[in-house]
Amino acid sequence: MGDAGMMRLEANALAVLLGQWHSGTGAAHRGLSEALQRLIVDGRLALGVKLPSERTLAEALHVSRTTTSTAYRNLVASGFLQTNSRTRAVVTLPATSLETLRPHRVEDVIDFSSASPAAPGELIHEAFRAATDYMPRHFAGNGYERAGIAELRRAIADRYSRRGLPTGPDQIMVTHGAQHALALVAHELLPRNGRVVIEHPTYPNAIRVFLDRSARITPISVADGWDAERFSAASRTADLTYLTPEFQNPTGLTMTEDVRRSMRLSSPTIVDETLLDVDAGPCSFSPMTPLAAYHPQMVTIGSLSKSVWGGLRVGWVRAGTNLIDRLVRSRSLFDLGNPVLEQLAAAELIAGDRIRDDGPRLARHRALNALGTALSTQLPGVTYAVPAGGVGLWVRLAEPISTRMANTAPDHGLLLAAGPRYGVGGAFERYLRLPFTLPGDELRDGVDRLAALYSAVLAGRTGHHPPCAIA
Ligand SMILES: Cc1ncc(COP(=O)(O)O)c(C=O)c1O
Repeated sequence: MGDAGMMRLEANALAVLLGQWHSGTGAAHRGLSEALQRLIVDGRLALGVKLPSERTLAEALHVSRTTTSTAYRNLVASGFLQTNSRTRAVVTLPATSLETLRPHRVEDVIDFSSASPAAPGELIHEAFRAATDYMPRHFAGNGYERAGIAELRRAIADRYSRRGLPTGPDQIMVTHGAQHALALVAHELLPRNGRVVIEHPTYPNAIRVFLDRSARITPISVADGWDAERFSAASRTADLTYLTPEFQNPTGLTMTEDVRRSMRLSSPTIVDETLLDVDAGPCSFSPMTPLAAYHPQMVTIGSLSKSVWGGLRVGWVRAGTNLIDRLVRSRSLFDLGNPVLEQLAAAELIAGDRIRDDGPRLARHRALNALGTALSTQLPGVTYAVPAGGVGLWVRLAEPISTRMANTAPDHGLLLAAGPRYGVGGAFERYLRLPFTLPGDELRDGVDRLAALYSAVLAGRTGHHPPCAIA
């Protein structure tokens, strides 16, 4: 860890990250070690970070020194911290896989922590059949296409041009999904310790990319949509701004055309359009004009993961040719291009305009309605705004119990992502992002389990029932 000196977390900062870690019932040291473990597993406490001393953390949390030292000891024993007598405890991960870390995993667990659709099997099959036929055209070359194969770069570029953002194939680099694209662009544009403006809440793995570069993050609320003036002002002192204007993850909001026009961002800006094609309304409509059509210097990233299938691992960057050249060069530190067959299949899907079919949209529409109805009838006190698209509902709970629910969820056969994953500074303890990407019966079972969990945690908090035991 070359940056170990910089990655020292002070007690007050950890207290903010921990938020409402103590439910008020059960042993405090257990509550604290669970909450710390959740921060580590979620990636909100990065590997290698040095935690505050037991004494200063005890002071910041207003608990006894025994509580913090027992919590740290538990985490050392389970492999989440390393210590020796002279240094601060350092965050680490046990050698076991993350899957086995979840307490009391049950066999038929329902995963509400991710929001990715299953594959539209026949569509993908057809695309790969066509790709296999085209494949021999590539056999004469060596197969290393660091920026992507010409057919796919053209298909992606043409789609931008059709949407009102004239683009040539040399402005596209194909990546292994949008996450890869985001990491590559951040690596290129964001200096270490730089300042990044984000929407708040936002996509958690983007926060992780920025924290990995030790970025100082300026969160701007999008609770009521985007305030162009606030984003523009914040960008003046930023090294990078990250925006997701299409069915924003997790709120499902879409940036209006007025806001698109009035943004005046001074910093380099990444526009993440991963969710562009997942509208979930009863009728089809064309996607909005790309934000970069109003601001051509912006870097746009996209993906087929949500509109078709995450298993394709195909995404891209659209930028000026200079930046694309730089990205192609820096990418070769890590990999030398995408597989040709997957790219041919992706080109087939994009050029054939198969990524906005009615079937998947109507399925999302039904699932969104089913989730909304089930929540309203089974979880008293929760509220949400119905988005026009996206992959999940951003649900406000009656109490700030999100982390507690996520920690206890495995006991109920459920996996949940706690609201604070979508923000910084311990925000969003009252929120959960619930996916509407699961098949109907799984979704209904999931809400049944969620409702049982919700009332158990609420009751535990107010002491009416014993809290759920976590090993
Ligand atoms: C806003 C956003 N960007 C990027 C990604 C990552 O997408 P990919 O699977 O293409 O890497 C996701 C996935 O959930 C996302 O929601």
